[in-house]
Amino acid sequence: MGKSIVFKGSPRKQNFFKICIVGDSGAGKTTILHQYLSGKFKSKAEITIGSNFFVKYLKLPEVKNLITLQVWDLAGQDYFKWVRYSFYKSAKGIIYVFDLTRKNTLERLENWKEEVEGQIGSCPSLLVGNKTDLINPQAQIILKEDIKNYCQSLGTRAYFETSAKIGTNIDDVFYRIATDMYEYYKE
Ligand code: GTP
Repeated sequence: MGKSIVFKGSPRKQNFFKICIVGDSGAGKTTILHQYLSGKFKSKAEITIGSNFFVKYLKLPEVKNLITLQVWDLAGQDYFKWVRYSFYKSAKGIIYVFDLTRKNTLERLENWKEEVEGQIGSCPSLLVGNKTDLINPQAQIILKEDIKNYCQSLGTRAYFETSAKIGTNIDDVFYRIATDMYEYYKE
């Protein structure tokens, strides 16, 4: 199954959430996860083969027990489409990632939504534009208006711009999806 970053532990039944992180190959999914776990930039992440997962515990202020996030990093290449289907099962949240330097990775998220929701229906999701460190704010490749439109069509609850290189907003992404899932499923 390729490389694994696994924090082992016994997940509590309550407040246990599976998340899938999806988007085109090279958008930076593995690097985001690596930065989240280690606080370091992995400059040479290999292409994900199939899937990897890790577990992270998170404290939300108003919640007594720790939240357990089981995050699945799914290979972005088309070649792995059939492998990915089996990993979506029982996911409670989705993080859609695109590369701010390649507009087609944003456009392709419509296909990703179809693929994921075709398996699990709709659930709390976030949109992440990654690689802010490579963007000159004066010469933005993708218009803010376009991103806003995609947020709407994808039905995501929030949009974050991240740099998996510097670490910008990485913690906030996972904190937000944990909060959204907790609120959505708490009844
Ligand atoms: P697949 O495993 O094929 O689905 O790709 P992925 O989405 O997991 O991409 P990956 O994390 O492997 O990153 C692809 C390349 O982009 C790697 O060379 C990373 O070092 C680089 N990269 C990822 N995030 C950033 C970032 O925020 N800034 C910069 N400068 N490079 C990044």
